[in-house]
Amino acid sequence: MNAVRHYSLFDRLLIEAQHALDTSLGTAHAERPNPAGTLPEAPLDEPARRHAAGLMRVNHTGEVCAQALYLGQAAVARDPATRSQLLQAAQEETDHLAWCADRLHELDSRPSLLNPLWYAGSWAIGAAAGLRGDGWNLGFVVETERQVEAHLEEHLDTLPPGDRRSRAILQVMKDDEVRHADKAQAAGARVLPPPIPSLMAFASKVMKAVAYRV
Ligand SMILES: [Fe+2]
Ligand SMILES: [Fe+2]
Repeated sequence: MNAVRHYSLFDRLLIEAQHALDTSLGTAHAERPNPAGTLPEAPLDEPARRHAAGLMRVNHTGEVCAQALYLGQAAVARDPATRSQLLQAAQEETDHLAWCADRLHELDSRPSLLNPLWYAGSWAIGAAAGLRGDGWNLGFVVETERQVEAHLEEHLDTLPPGDRRSRAILQVMKDDEVRHADKAQAAGARVLPPPIPSLMAFASKVMKAVAYRV
């Protein structure tokens, strides 16, 4: 017989802190192979390399935020099925996190120094949304994924044309995000009322402008 494990509030705080450190400062390990595979490295000049690195840093931070948002929501979700769906969504973002980190390394760059801060802010937003109820949780997943999909589309257009390795990663990420949104939609997401989607878009615009540089 399987024993059901009960965690004290202190245990749960430690687990959340561990997730926060692992995601924002640790090394993510992908389960799937990197979509860039054996594609050749493009001969990028210095401005193009810096631009590609800036975009990949934004994408890496976006994945940190997505994980934090989902884990914040999962921490307060009432329904065990919703909680496990949120934890699974966070897990699926781990590949994206690892691929973006690999690409940043290849581009001779690094993740955002502010990732712990982005993580904390996103976790708090996720928990606040989760307290409103499980339909809201799924609504947040849909809105997050749709916004990420839109910015990936924009990045695919603005990456240096020769950078096929970054492009291959973003293309698979975009396909995954579309699937994540559709799945949450089918599970009963409710449409978030204004001004929440615009506030989320504004927060991500600030994140993108800062993470491109820092
Ligand atoms: Fe993702
Ligand atoms: Fe996603």
